Amino acid sequence: MWGSGPGVWAFFLVLWMVGNTTASRPCIPKFVGSDAMVCVCNATYCDTVDPVCLLPKGYFLKYETSKAGHRMELTEGTFQLNSTSPGFLGLEYFFNASERYQYIKGFGGSHTDAAAINILSLSVAAQNQLLRCYFADTGIEYNLLRMPIGSCDFSTRPYVYDDIAYDFDLKYFSLAEEDIKFRIPVLHRILAIAERPISIVASPWTAPAWLKSNDQIKGKGRLKGKAGDPFHKTWANYFIRFLDEYAYYNVTFWAVTAQNEPACSLFAMKDFPTINYSPEEQRDFVMLDLGPALASSNHKDVLLIIHDDLRSNLPKWAKVVLGNSSAAKYVSGIGVHWYLDKVFPAECTLGATHRLFPDYFLLYTEACNGYETWAAKVDLGSWGRGVRYSKNIIDTLQNFVVGWIDWNLALDMKGGPNWVKNFVDSPIIVDATKDEFYKQPMFYHLAHFSKFIPEGSVRVGLTSNSWLGCRLHTVGFLRPDGAAVVVALNNCFYDVPFSITDGPVGVLEDVARSYSIQTYLWKRA
Ligand SMILES: *[C@@H]1O[C@H](CO)[C@@H](O)[C@H](O)[C@H]1NC(C)=O
Ligand SMILES: *[C@@H]1O[C@H](CO)[C@@H](O)[C@H](O)[C@H]1NC(C)=O
Ligand SMILES: *[C@@H]1O[C@H](CO)[C@@H](O)[C@H](O)[C@H]1NC(C)=O
Ligand SMILES: *[C@@H]1O[C@H](CO)[C@@H](O)[C@H](O)[C@H]1NC(C)=O
Ligand SMILES: *[C@@H]1O[C@H](CO)[C@@H](O)[C@H](O)[C@H]1NC(C)=O
Repeated sequence: MWGSGPGVWAFFLVLWMVGNTTASRPCIPKFVGSDAMVCVCNATYCDTVDPVCLLPKGYFLKYETSKAGHRMELTEGTFQLNSTSPGFLGLEYFFNASERYQYIKGFGGSHTDAAAINILSLSVAAQNQLLRCYFADTGIEYNLLRMPIGSCDFSTRPYVYDDIAYDFDLKYFSLAEEDIKFRIPVLHRILAIAERPISIVASPWTAPAWLKSNDQIKGKGRLKGKAGDPFHKTWANYFIRFLDEYAYYNVTFWAVTAQNEPACSLFAMKDFPTINYSPEEQRDFVMLDLGPALASSNHKDVLLIIHDDLRSNLPKWAKVVLGNSSAAKYVSGIGVHWYLDKVFPAECTLGATHRLFPDYFLLYTEACNGYETWAAKVDLGSWGRGVRYSKNIIDTLQNFVVGWIDWNLALDMKGGPNWVKNFVDSPIIVDATKDEFYKQPMFYHLAHFSKFIPEGSVRVGLTSNSWLGCRLHTVGFLRPDGAAVVVALNNCFYDVPFSITDGPVGVLEDVARSYSIQTYLWKRA
């Protein structure tokens, strides 16, 4: 008497849902403007998203976040077997699992001094809520973290790990109070919470003053001397000492970048701590100093990422460094920062670089909103800033990018602390005076990727028919568990009906609400 038709499955599904007592906790909304909304969390409450539990073949899961107020809201639907329903006039997408592009490394944020200080400014219970939001399986399951080697502008003071002039043997190298008291303890908690393996990328901002041409930690300088000399060798060994010190605390790194923003094109701020390199200087530093130092250390599995700067430098930067096989043999990937992406089309920068150097991954290593001098620093509840994230993530994933790392995990109500007053926005804003934190639309836009597209997923073909209306922004993947994922952003002022045809499964028909982002997941076997 038990058939195996969809009706029977649906019956069990309803029973399961009714009996499912650990269902996700909803967002507690706080309206900041007419349509600006954040989700409020405190020591005892925070919204969650249950671990993904795929439905049998023929059904799909849909998670929806919208300007109208949905936050990762889960619904289920069924595939139609043959075709779209009669009279369907929507946008048609075709999911092609045999058309394969890049493998995905993952998604994450940055564990700066500012992030650690803000997290620790909350009560311990609220800190745990916050960390779980990003890393737990009831959160958005980040698997990437970026950490500055030493201070960056998002610190409360400029510092380095060895201030003793001309200590070429780094005898006086030691981690800072910020590492020992703030960043490492928080990191240990992150690693304990995360279900997915976390890959950490480390990036230096500045060398000690005695290695820099401007003789200061602050401001722009070059490394003294030239590649292969004691200044450059010492600076390369400084990376190794950092990795050693963190290894003592049982923290291992997946990768280092050779320098944060070596071209220094964007931040003309006088005191911004940085080392300037030309692409030729970076090539020579990698070839003669940093590459060999890593290869002959205990950290030879740590990958080396070049560039770590705006895509306006691409593909030129990659041509100079990777075009030289003696440098390229030490390199695994190319880091990119999202600033000014609007001005430099993805295809001519990322696409061109991928075609020249398909064996080197492209990874977004930094992005934030509010960095323009004229922009509001923290803009609580801004839907538009969330859309800027998801549009950029979709656009870059479609151009061979393997992952996307956001900037500070958490900032305060001013967008700091930052000792050069370079305040910006963050997906989580902490109000320590109230022991609360606010999850911005940016948090949920990122969630639509990070939670559902695990490391090892592969981007696949997702094409659409011609269509006169406003288009969706979409990208599709196959996960390591074989399931399909599609993320669809509707940035149009009206609802868009659409379908996705996946040969072996059928046709998914739905409507993407105006100003919304959704992730669909389904089993293919
Ligand atoms: C935390 O938030 C929940 C849900 O809004 C609320 O019921 C509770 O009173 C808050 N706790 C504190 C200590 O403010
Ligand atoms: C599938 O196609 C068959 C034959 O063309 C038709 O009879 C049937 O109603 C269709 N089923 C669905 C679910 O559209
Ligand atoms: C899917 O992609 C493969 C590989 O590119 C191609 O051979 C095939 O024709 C595509 N299938 C459809 C239905 O477009
Ligand atoms: C590192 O891990 C080992 C083995 O689990 C442990 O004994 C040691 O205390 C840890 N070291 C630190 C500094 O946490
Ligand atoms: C790499 O660059 C160095 C320094 O400019 C040069 O001496 C060397 O010949 C180059 N090697 C290759 C393989 O291009």
